[in-house]
Amino acid sequence: MNKLTALACMLIACGGSSRPHTTALAGKAASTPHNAARGGDAPAPAAATASLFERLGGKPAIIAVTDEFIDRVAADARIKHRFFNTDLTRLKTLLVELVCMATGGPCKYSGQDMETSHAGMELVDEEFTALVEDLAGALDKFKVPAKEKGELLGALGPMQPQIVTPKDRLKPVPDAAIAKATSVAVKLSGEAADLMQAAIIAAKRGQRNYADQLFSRVEALAGARTVAAAAPTFRDGAPPRIETPLKKMAKDTPAQPKLAGASDEDDQGVALPASLTGSILVDGKPLEGLGTVMLFPANGRAKRRTPKQRIVEQRDKQFSPHVLAVPPGSTVAFPNFDGVFHNVFSISEPKKFDIGLYKDGDTREVKFEKPGIVRLGCNIHAKMASYIVVVDAPHYVVVDGGKAFTFKNLAPGKYKVRAWSESSAAPAESEITIKAGANSASFTVKGDGETGPSEDKFGMTRQPIRPAPRH
Ligand code: HEM
Repeated sequence: MNKLTALACMLIACGGSSRPHTTALAGKAASTPHNAARGGDAPAPAAATASLFERLGGKPAIIAVTDEFIDRVAADARIKHRFFNTDLTRLKTLLVELVCMATGGPCKYSGQDMETSHAGMELVDEEFTALVEDLAGALDKFKVPAKEKGELLGALGPMQPQIVTPKDRLKPVPDAAIAKATSVAVKLSGEAADLMQAAIIAAKRGQRNYADQLFSRVEALAGARTVAAAAPTFRDGAPPRIETPLKKMAKDTPAQPKLAGASDEDDQGVALPASLTGSILVDGKPLEGLGTVMLFPANGRAKRRTPKQRIVEQRDKQFSPHVLAVPPGSTVAFPNFDGVFHNVFSISEPKKFDIGLYKDGDTREVKFEKPGIVRLGCNIHAKMASYIVVVDAPHYVVVDGGKAFTFKNLAPGKYKVRAWSESSAAPAESEITIKAGANSASFTVKGDGETGPSEDKFGMTRQPIRPAPRH
């Protein structure tokens, strides 16, 4: 059974039902404004073997219920803030596809699985219940009979473990810190007060990343200074925040490549007598993804590379480059070209930072001084990840999968090699002797690192949330 079929089976019992049926929405929603949407897609009156899709009234009816459902969610104080950064039109389309496919309709769900799409959100049971109640309300509005309503809602239950975060992954904020934020909250009014209240509830539940996002929005509305006394409530345990003023980067800035950084870029016009071509192997197999090879002359006479000014962009909910190699002292700008907010943070030892929330071409810069591997994450989108490899080696290159890498200008001699792949926990060290002329070698690294979404900014694991039930 493939992932999508399994997903469909989670939403409704696989195999369907053969009991007599009514056409729930087709029959009952005829007097609603939404029903005007029903056209050629509407199924024929239900036969004895009609699918739930048909009994609900087909795609136009599912669209009408989904519209009503999303309207209810957007007005539901318990969960509405969850969707501030979401393209609701896209979400509606995906929900319609999902329900249509899952109820036996002629649709193909094109979104992500439930675990991936909700990873890192720290959703709790109360929020899941609120969302299900909003769907129940939408079904009631269209007078869907109890049987069909029960079939649809009853089938959502098995999805809960994939969507809701287990309590042991949440870290409630201590009462004294909550009291501090509450004393600041009383000074606020309007939307800022509303968001602060939601942030306090989230902090009490231990939804620290969500609480931090809500508090960032309070800061944007009320001014960071006004609510500074509450910042430790939401930020203790997170990396230092970068608060430099936002700059704009031109929207037509070309998209960044998926990998960047090679010492050969600095060696134009240099003609040393040796070269090295090779590849990275992960546990003996060709590298999948990206890696880096660094060469240090064994005699210690290393030329220091000049620091660079580079870009790691956020575009289409991805970081690019995915791997960037730069010498120590380099500065990286982090423009967000998406219309939704992103965050960039690192809890890696060489550089811990949290760059805040921004969008629409805004950017901030970070300087990387210490050598090492810095894994970047987005606090909102758990599956976004990339790496900055801060290299103190005079020779370095980023390696693209099974493709060969080349160092064009090397002096003959012994070198220490440090090779790393994005699926390695740490670089692997070895030695090589380079002779005049062309050399070749492959370097083996371990595939023992985290590849999915990493820890959140408070150091809590974000994924997998829980194994999906088997069907
Ligand atoms: C059975 C319950 C649920 C179902 C069937 C469901 C379904 C979905 C689907 C199909 C998507 C789009 C996936 C994609 O981007 O490819 C999605 C995204 C999302 N869901 Fe749920 N969801 C459920 C529960 C919840 C709950 C309880 C919340 C919060 C109260 C929630 C919040 C969100 C948000 C904020 C997104 C958008 C993420 C983004 O903007 O990238 N969902 N959900």
